[in-house]
Amino acid sequence: MPNFGTMESDSVVVANDVTKDFDGHIAVSHLDLEVPPGVCFGLLGPNGAGKTTTLRMIYGVTEPSEGSIDVFGLDIAKYRRAVRSRLGVTLQESVMIEVLSPVDNLRVFGRYHLLSEARIDKRVMELVDFMELNSHADVPVKYLSGGFKRRLAIALSLMNEPDLLILDEPTTGLDPAVRLALWDQLRELRRNGTTILLTTHYMDEAERLCDQLAIFSEGHVIGMGKPSDLIMEHLERETVEFTCTSGEESSLLGASALPEKSLRIRDRMLVYVEDAAPLVDVIRARDPDDRCSLVVRPTNLEDVFLTLTGTSLETDS
Ligand SMILES: Nc1ncnc2c1ncn2[C@@H]1O[C@H](COP(=O)(O)OP(=O)(O)OP(=O)(O)O)[C@@H](O)[C@H]1O
Ligand SMILES: [Mg+2]
Repeated sequence: MPNFGTMESDSVVVANDVTKDFDGHIAVSHLDLEVPPGVCFGLLGPNGAGKTTTLRMIYGVTEPSEGSIDVFGLDIAKYRRAVRSRLGVTLQESVMIEVLSPVDNLRVFGRYHLLSEARIDKRVMELVDFMELNSHADVPVKYLSGGFKRRLAIALSLMNEPDLLILDEPTTGLDPAVRLALWDQLRELRRNGTTILLTTHYMDEAERLCDQLAIFSEGHVIGMGKPSDLIMEHLERETVEFTCTSGEESSLLGASALPEKSLRIRDRMLVYVEDAAPLVDVIRARDPDDRCSLVVRPTNLEDVFLTLTGTSLETDS
């Protein structure tokens, strides 16, 4: 009788206290993660934070040093083949055959998944259409642009109609129109019940495409939840942004203290407050000519990301 892991959970992925130690370098530390079915779940974090390592462990190509991962309720370490038949994956490295066309690459993938020839024919046509590859369907992959290669990579990962699609930075380097088209395709897959787990460096993508997020920093998850909840949980509603040299903010604020939550990015101050009006009045009174280019805007996910990760910034909070 196989060990069906967390059968009581209907989560598609459950990571239990997972650590990955690469010869003394801890890439992922004590990770607990649950991906519910039918959502688009995003992993965010600076370079080297442990996102790809996490995806690789979920796919079963990298083994955790400690802890366990269940996918579809099965321990990936024991049931790799059964799990993989229901997974689609596009990791950062490419798996395409450069001398073959998209259609032939898709066919090779279909055979790898042991699909019948009739099923392959049908699926290839569907995917060429769905990923809008028609104009380049018969061109050898080595002549395709980055955007078309990305579309093909995703088409390949969809060949077996996966229940869980894992995408490592699916839209990095794509032009804005292709990115938007890809978001629509991912939304359509999600509507049809596919669970999507992806990494991204784009805050707009995380905010608009993902239902839930985990923010990684140095191997730890430092924030998790819906994009809007993360913003509410970690920061105030409004952001007052102005430019000033380091230390100059105190003269702009006069007797008032700098609000508790603020961030300096080179010569730009970001101050997070529930109500911007009183702070704006103080700054405007001291800078009537708006030399500090004051802007008020709603706090967004990028603010949360920068505050939590403090990436390459001189933080001040
Ligand atoms: N095979 C490996 N051997 C040794 N160290 C590794 C290996 N793979 C990853 N690492 C290290 O683990 C850490 C996490 O890497 P990972 O690729 O998971 O980061 P990431 O969050 O995906 O970053 P990026 O945004 O740059 O893709 C990094 O410090 C990286 O150098
Ligand atoms: Mg990565």
